[in-house]
Amino acid sequence: MPSFHQVKSYLDHWLHEVDEHSIHSPFFFDLYSKVVTKKYKSDLPVLENLRWDMESNKTVLSINDLGSGQHHKTPSQRTIGEIARTSLTPYQYAMFYLDLLYYTKSHRVVELGTSLGLTTLYLAQKKDATIYTFEGSHDIANVALTNFEWAGRKNIELIEGNINSTLRKFLQSTNKVDFVLMDANHRYGPTMLYYQQLTKRLSGKSIVIIDDIHRSAEMEKAWREIRTDVLVYGSVDLYRCGILFFDPSMNKQHFVWSLK
Ligand SMILES: C[S@@+](CC[C@H](N)C(=O)[O-])C[C@H]1O[C@@H](n2cnc3c(N)ncnc32)[C@H](O)[C@@H]1O
Repeated sequence: MPSFHQVKSYLDHWLHEVDEHSIHSPFFFDLYSKVVTKKYKSDLPVLENLRWDMESNKTVLSINDLGSGQHHKTPSQRTIGEIARTSLTPYQYAMFYLDLLYYTKSHRVVELGTSLGLTTLYLAQKKDATIYTFEGSHDIANVALTNFEWAGRKNIELIEGNINSTLRKFLQSTNKVDFVLMDANHRYGPTMLYYQQLTKRLSGKSIVIIDDIHRSAEMEKAWREIRTDVLVYGSVDLYRCGILFFDPSMNKQHFVWSLK
């Protein structure tokens, strides 16, 4: 059942939502009409078949809870099926992220929170991109690696361990990052920390997506503070996720949209 916070934030989103008639910026108009309102004619049946297979998989995994953001204690044993049914990005958003990746012509991609690797596989469909994906639960990371091997994807690098330490090390030894999907630890402190670390490797062309921005009051606070950060020049609130842009020519614009 949705919490009081989720109901309130959903109503708030609905009240502030705009469509193409209120978008005067050519960049955001183009983004809205080409990516956000796109009606998918084709899908990726192979990956959706993998999702369905995993949803009924009864193999039990041992989970280190590194930050589900849930208020109840996450059990330390979960089946692949339970994880697939509750933790993965839904099809509509996975396709949207892939479209956004093509639209932004991004090459160096960071995904915080691999889980079973399904969204990673969506992103890896862009063959000239490399996806650096981070997962802290050993058993979950192993399932993701098996999925990558099964799909024959060579453009994925899985970095295993707690993002609290692996992200900093990775960023010290890498070039600029074009595209970031933050979908790991849905708490205020880690979200702010990872964002601040990532800013050292962002350019004016980079984009950062933060998942579950309205899930809780603390994620709402993180989103509010990040989208008004001095480095952020444009942002879009799609309710499930928020997207940040860093190009100074955007002149500090914020939009509330729905994925069509
Ligand atoms: C919501 S799931 C990611 C879903 C995935 N992006 C997808 O769409 O299929 C979050 C994952 O992040 C991992 N995680 C959470 N906090 C972490 C941390 N501090 N370090 C490493 N992994 C973490 C969890 O183990 C979990 O598998």
